[in-house]
Amino acid sequence: MSEEYSKYGFSTRAVHSGVNKDSLYNSCTTPIYTSSTYYWNDLTTNSGYDYTRSANPTRKALEENIASLEGGVGAQATATGMAAITTVMHLFVPGDHIIAGNDIYGGTYRLFADVFTKMGLRFSFVDMGNADAVREAITPDTKCIWIETPSNPLLNVVDIEAVTAVARERRLLTIADNTFLSPYLQRPFEMGVDIIVHSTTKYLNGHSDVVGGCVVSKTKEHADKVAYIVNALGLGCSPFDAFLVLRGVKSLGPRMEAHQKGAMAVARMLDGHANVEKVYYPGLESHPDHELAKRQQKGFGGMVSFDIKGGRPAAEKLFARTKLFQLAESLGGIESLIEYPETMSHASMTAQARLAAGISEKTIRISVGIEDPQDLVADLKQALEG
Ligand SMILES: Cc1ncc(COP(=O)(O)O)c(C=O)c1O
Repeated sequence: MSEEYSKYGFSTRAVHSGVNKDSLYNSCTTPIYTSSTYYWNDLTTNSGYDYTRSANPTRKALEENIASLEGGVGAQATATGMAAITTVMHLFVPGDHIIAGNDIYGGTYRLFADVFTKMGLRFSFVDMGNADAVREAITPDTKCIWIETPSNPLLNVVDIEAVTAVARERRLLTIADNTFLSPYLQRPFEMGVDIIVHSTTKYLNGHSDVVGGCVVSKTKEHADKVAYIVNALGLGCSPFDAFLVLRGVKSLGPRMEAHQKGAMAVARMLDGHANVEKVYYPGLESHPDHELAKRQQKGFGGMVSFDIKGGRPAAEKLFARTKLFQLAESLGGIESLIEYPETMSHASMTAQARLAAGISEKTIRISVGIEDPQDLVADLKQALEG
């Protein structure tokens, strides 16, 4: 974390950390340094930058900012969230075994089960809500436990401290995907996690106009290894995208407050509605992980999922009638989105894997934006009742 701002609160760090890179003109926002290369002073010294694939001042500003928000020693900003996950998978070698939840993001599941399995890594997908199931899945080759919480789309909450305790017993690395809550609402390093990944496409950028990712490390050893991999594989994000994410991240705190206020209002309306079978929102007292979420999270977040009565035909009717919820994948932007995991966000999972995770043709996922909660509730209600 940058020493300069480490003593300040979260939103102060979000606004200031890493930002001031222009000592020539003192610009208040970070310039977009588009240069691919940097001239050297002589054969051994340069400004600290030589080639943008390795490092870039705009990207560095974003990396310092996110490292500060997560409480890490270093971060690498990548081209996408999948690039961040690809980066950390290169910490392992063929034969290594990794344990992950059975209801992780569909794209992560595909990357693990298809791409990295072909490259010799091995994976077990287990019920991460059950620390015994995690312990039982450990083999002599296990090197890592992958944590994604709350899960996507059913918002099951993984007990991070219970999983990192198992990992410590067996000297395993833990990596957490903190995309769904962002560092404003969840701080995995404080619960024993070693490395954090994000799709910055979501809440960190927050405006649905960038795809990006990042890897944050708790130790210098991991930070150095991750920086090496990002440079070697060429996975770093562009200076323009870094500028946009840095612009977005400055308002992360107030946005997360607005997202979760709307999400709670939407969840309460859906809960008990005649056309809704089940609501998945850890903020509801009826959610099985409500107490755990209250303990390990600083809030319940902006994602709400539910099962609609009547399955796909009822879902199609609902999507056609909403005016404020656009039918689109992704999440974490200021505008509300609604989607159908079976054919959209989780289409990359096999039907069997979806079934095992509890995703059905009734399941609908909502990313609640920052619009006025009463407008969102009224719009969704009229769409459900039409
Ligand atoms: C939890 C989670 N992790 C990772 C990703 C992948 O990020 P990206 O789409 O930026 O590659 C997503 C995308 O939806 C996600 O929801």
